[in-house]
Amino acid sequence: MNKITIQTPDDWHLHFRDGLMLKETVPATARCFKRAIVMPNLVPPVTNAKMAMEYSQRILEARPDGSDFEPLMTLYLTDKTTRQDIIDAKQAGVIAAKLYPAGATTNSDAAVKGVMQLYPVFEEMTAQDMLLLIHGEVTESHIDIFDREKVFIDQQMTRIVDDFPQLRIVFEHITTKDAADFVEAGPENLAATITPQHLMLNRNDLLVGGIRPHNYCLPVLKRQTHQAALRDVVARGHKRFFLGTDSAPHEKHLKENSCGCAGCYSAWSAIELYTQVFDELNALEHLEGFASHNGPDFYGLPRNEGSITLVKEDWQIPEQIKLPTGNDIVPFHAGQTVHWKLASS
Ligand code: DOR
Ligand code: ZN
Repeated sequence: MNKITIQTPDDWHLHFRDGLMLKETVPATARCFKRAIVMPNLVPPVTNAKMAMEYSQRILEARPDGSDFEPLMTLYLTDKTTRQDIIDAKQAGVIAAKLYPAGATTNSDAAVKGVMQLYPVFEEMTAQDMLLLIHGEVTESHIDIFDREKVFIDQQMTRIVDDFPQLRIVFEHITTKDAADFVEAGPENLAATITPQHLMLNRNDLLVGGIRPHNYCLPVLKRQTHQAALRDVVARGHKRFFLGTDSAPHEKHLKENSCGCAGCYSAWSAIELYTQVFDELNALEHLEGFASHNGPDFYGLPRNEGSITLVKEDWQIPEQIKLPTGNDIVPFHAGQTVHWKLASS
């Protein structure tokens, strides 16, 4: 197959950042996605309805002329989140809340220390039909970084899923066979997003032949057997797995640093790279489900109108991009050739 047309897709996990950065990140996503779940890990984090609505407005203002892109807003859960925060957020149009274990990733210091404390909030989310999005890693310093997702499943995720059978839960950016198996065997109210980098790469791509900071993200890339399990589950077209890029821009100097930031800025090429992966897997018939159907179906939102077309044609991702801040950023897969290209949308 040299050409594929799919219903317009959405990105179910995205970091836009804020301020001047929006002039770069919003058009990059809006070029092919109709909607995106916007992560709330700003400084300070988006913890209430008012902040979410103001942030949404800034995103809308950064859209290219004529774009009908729609940000889907989320709330950042902290130890101080109340039931009333959830009620107010739902009323304002916020559709989900994100659980970051404290210290798990970029700007998560304000996040949750004890999940049990949040049970009243989860009850209210169930009542309000808001989704719970989980960064599934433990953060205790004695737990090896490669084991943190698995330990989170055993210590926390299993319990949350068992205790809230009516709450729709998304296990975000899964990276292990353990997580893929857990979601696949789990109930209908449990789903997962998968990033392009976790389908394309494994930890050798991070560490062999020199450390590659632009492949560093969290949860960190795992061994090849885990990558293979993720590829396998999407190739089978499982309905509770869907597209979430976790596109997470950090300026070049903050990635190429003695303590480099976690995150891959994949918005420039994500839909093309997912297409390439499905093509490699001889599973292009499942691309549309993964990119355009499974997400809205799980979220209870309508599927998009319209379509996008990708053609099998080589192009090169730029080595770096100039940000509106004047600084450079290195996009994911920089300088490399991609075999699929967005033709029209
Ligand atoms: O690599 C990551 N970067 N993982 C996350 O969970 C957060 C993100 C960011 O915001 O930079
Ligand atoms: Zn993320």
